[in-house]
Amino acid sequence: MKVIITADHAGMTIRNEVKNLLDEMGIDYVDTGCDCQSSVDYPDYALPAAERVASGEFDRGIFICGTGIGMSISANKVKGIRCALVHDVYTAKLTRQHNDSNVLAMGERVIGPGLAREIAKSWLESEFDGGRHANRIGKISTYEDK
Ligand code: RB5
Repeated sequence: MKVIITADHAGMTIRNEVKNLLDEMGIDYVDTGCDCQSSVDYPDYALPAAERVASGEFDRGIFICGTGIGMSISANKVKGIRCALVHDVYTAKLTRQHNDSNVLAMGERVIGPGLAREIAKSWLESEFDGGRHANRIGKISTYEDK
């Protein structure tokens, strides 16, 4: 699995925690987050990273900002992206099993690094269930193709 991680200035701590996790799990990743010397605009990071997931260059993305909301709204504008904003372990698992989410967004001003690590681990380890859920995702893809 290849993962792209990105973050704005408000996501630096969780970004580093997730990078440690990816290292421990032996997962290849590229970090396109900001240098965090100053305030930046989250769409400038979310949109290019989401395009690299949608193109197939990366299998999954993990995007961090202050609330996770800006990153998730931006990412979901890119065709083929199913970005889930997650702040608990239960929905981290369910959004993989039911929604086949390919981008995970989290907010550093909402949760701490320990929970972010558990969420990312659960999300990375959970698989899509397919079946009736594939049919539902197909309806989203059909809408995107209109
Ligand atoms: C930055 O202050 C903050 O607005 C951004 O990180 C994010 O929370 C936006 O949704």
